[in-house]
Formats: sequence, structure tokens, C-alpha cells
Amino acid sequence: MTYHDQSVKVPDYTASERQTVFHTTVADEKLYGGAAGGGKTAAIVAEAGTLALEFPGIPVNLFRRTIPELKATIIPELNKQFGAYIRAGHMKWHGQDRYFELSNKSRIFLNYLDNDNDIYRYQGSEMPIIGVDELTQFPQAWIEYLITRNRTSNPEWPVIFMAGTNPGGVGHGWVKSRFIDPVPPETIHTIHLDEGQTRTRVFIPAKVDDHPIEKFKTDYKRTLASISDPQLRKALKDGDWDVFSGQVFREFSRGVHVVDPFTIPTHWQRWRAMDHGNNNSVGWFTQDPASERIYMYREYRETEYKTIKEKARNIKQFEATESVSYGMADPSIWAAGQGNHATGKSIAQMYSDESVDWMPANNDRKAGLDAVHGYLGIMKDGYPKLQFFSTCVSMIRTLPSLPYDKVKVDDVDTKADDHDYDMLRYGLMPFVTPDTDDIDTYTSGDEGGLLY
Ligand SMILES: Nc1ncnc2c1ncn2[C@@H]1O[C@H](COP(=O)(O)OP(=O)(O)OP(=O)(O)O)[C@@H](O)[C@H]1O
Ligand SMILES: [Mg+2]
Repeated sequence: MTYHDQSVKVPDYTASERQTVFHTTVADEKLYGGAAGGGKTAAIVAEAGTLALEFPGIPVNLFRRTIPELKATIIPELNKQFGAYIRAGHMKWHGQDRYFELSNKSRIFLNYLDNDNDIYRYQGSEMPIIGVDELTQFPQAWIEYLITRNRTSNPEWPVIFMAGTNPGGVGHGWVKSRFIDPVPPETIHTIHLDEGQTRTRVFIPAKVDDHPIEKFKTDYKRTLASISDPQLRKALKDGDWDVFSGQVFREFSRGVHVVDPFTIPTHWQRWRAMDHGNNNSVGWFTQDPASERIYMYREYRETEYKTIKEKARNIKQFEATESVSYGMADPSIWAAGQGNHATGKSIAQMYSDESVDWMPANNDRKAGLDAVHGYLGIMKDGYPKLQFFSTCVSMIRTLPSLPYDKVKVDDVDTKADDHDYDMLRYGLMPFVTPDTDDIDTYTSGDEGGLLY
């Protein structure tokens, strides 16, 4: 049996115009969204749920990378759309194996796929319906493996691979070339495989403006507007898949972000940051307590091998006539085995022996990238939140030239000369309020113990 006209019949969900296009489009692989807030998770859950209702006994497999993401997105959406069913006992949660079982014996499995080994858990299984939320979070090989399981020996059941996604992430490149680049949106693209086999693919775009609820749109647009990376903001808001090429910090401007050195008042706090390595990068910062503007006022960059003792002595020399409150460094310098092999001392300890102390910096790359973009942004007084003394020549040269990573496109390419950038992230992180974790922000009680 082929599956042609799907009317979505989930209890508490009425598809928007864009979601209806997605639901009624027939292709072996269909991708929905390509921008933030278009109702992607809801559409996948609704279509998965409908198929579970329509085809008794069918297994439906939904995927995200991690359990916290399932908890924060898919579970609340299932609860929203199927709350009445669940409360009436028509849909039961089996926590051990992480699936809902409907009274018609269909099962909706909530899966995670977070590393190479996880894919072997799906070896041998038949998965007629696969729904992946945030497809660009996954490497191509994992999804291609899943697609080899996208089959059934039951001739009554449809076989569907569907996904929703935003641009960005490790899978940006392959998802773009598989779904976005080959043909215009909403055009079914036929791939010719060996032995005369074919496969069809389609991309149905949706943006936050296509969301059916006005208030959601307004609130969500405000959230999108506050994303500090201008490229990422454009990608998520406009569904622009081409923005992650070229330089990351396009907003950097010599005329705006670089100032002539001035005498720093003694009451301004000073601190330093370091990215450790043969290409050591150390930077010193200070903050004007009145404007809260941060200045990077000095840099010390080693490009040749120096012992830690030598580096520490140089740092102390720079600080001979000033008071530096604290130092933030790459957390890896506390790792065992990275310092002196004979004494077993860590790099941090070796610095400390020379009276140069460090604290471990927050090394969250995404938060760090946001912080740097945020600080390059302009304050109400018309000047940026962060400026560099013109003597910080290495930083002024390397920061604006950093490219995006070719694979994980919404991050800086770690193969570029990123030591000054890493040091800058560490130096700014003490000023960043940590993001609350997804798990903590999800507080609905509806699913009461559904997961574990
Ligand atoms: N057709 C609809 N009718 C009513 N509410 C909807 C509909 N589609 C989505 N929603 C609700 O709007 C909110 C956002 O939808 P959803 O999470 O599916 O968007 P998304 O595109 O996955 O967003 P993100 O990019 O943040 O992952 C959710 O609360 C969802 O329940
Ligand atoms: Mg979503």
C-alpha cells in the first residue's frame, strides 16, 4: 500500500498552512523548516502520531541527539498533542525502552543518537517511520545508516523518512547539499540509484512568520533578534543557508574596535586570560567601571617554544607595576599528564610554582562565541562594549580573519590561528551569565515521570 493523502488527525493539533504542505507532500525523504520557529517539532510529532494512529502496530521512531533534548522538545510536544489520550490511558509510557504504546499497539519510540556507537543499537531493526528533529545536528553517516533501516516487511505500512531542522551545526553541509541545493523548495527531487532504483527528496521551507499564533511569532522574533552573532541570527530567522562562509567576526572594524593606548586609572580592575600551547596567547583586560566597557590593553604571544618558567617570568615582568586581580585559562592546563612528566605536575601547577595563578575558564564554545559577538556589539553611547589597544597587533590581525568551521559551520574553524580568539573567550566568560540548561527550564508536570 502506498500512502498518499495524509490528513493529520492528532487530537490537539491543527496544522498551519506550511505544516499542511509538509504533511501532504509525498517523498521518501522530506525535510521541513530550515529556519527557527516554523513549527518543525510540532509537525514531526503530529505526523508521527497520525501514522501511529492510522496504522495499527506500526513502530514510529523519533530521534534527537540527546535525552535532555528529547525531554525539552519532543516529550512536551507529545504531551501537548496527545495529552487527552495519555490521561485517558490510550497511550502508555514504557520508560525502560523509552516508547509510548497506543491502544492499537502502535509504538512511538523516543531515541537518541549521540555518538558512533549509538547507531549500533538500531542494527537489524526495521523502522518504517523515522522522524529526526534538528537534522543538522547529526553527521551524515549516522543518518545514512538510519536510512538503511527505513523499511518494513509489512506491505500495508508506508515507509517515510521525515526531518525538521535549522541551518547550522555539524550536519549543515550535507543537509544543504542533500535537500536545499539541488532543486528549488517544494520541488520533488528524484535520485537515481543503482539497478534502476530511485529515491525522492523534498524540502518544505517554513519560518517563524509561518507560525499560526501571532503572540508566538512576536515573542519568538524578539528572542531571535537578541542572538548576538549576526550571521547565525540571519540563518535562523530568514532560513539563509549561505551565511556561514567567510569570516565569523564581520562586525569587527579597526575604526570602531581599536583605540590608542591610554593610561589606565589605578582603580580599574585588571585581569588576564591565556590560551596555553606552543603558540601561547596571553591577554590583559580592564574595565571602565563607569561605562562598563572592557579594554584589552596588552598581549603577549609566543610563537616559539619557551618553557613554562620562561613564560611565567615574562608574564610577571609585564605585571611588575600593576595589580592583576585574576587569570583565566584554558581548563586543559589542569589535566594530568600534560605538564611535567617527571614530577607529575600539571601546567597550572607549574605556573603556580612561579607565582602566576590561573582559574579554569568556562570553555563552552557556543557561549564563548556569543560572548565575543556580544562584546563587539555597540553600546547605547555609540561605542562597542569591547575595544582593543592598538598595541594588541596579533589580536587585531587574527580575530577579523577567522573563518567559520567547514563542518560545524556555526563555530570558528579551530584549524585557523584561533589562539587569540580562544584567549579572548576565556577573558570574557567571567562576565557571561550561564544559560539555564534545557532540562531545568522544562518544568511542565504533565508527563509526570514519563521519562525515568
Ligand atoms: N499548528 C500549530 N498550532 C498550534 N501551536 C503550534 C502549531 N505548531 C507549533 N505550535 C506550537 O508552537 C511552538 C513552537 O513550535 P515548534 O517547537 O514545533 O517550532 P520549531 O520550528 O520546532 O522551533 P525551534 O526552531 O525553536 O525548534 C510550540 O509550543 C508548538 O507546540
Ligand atoms: Mg524544534
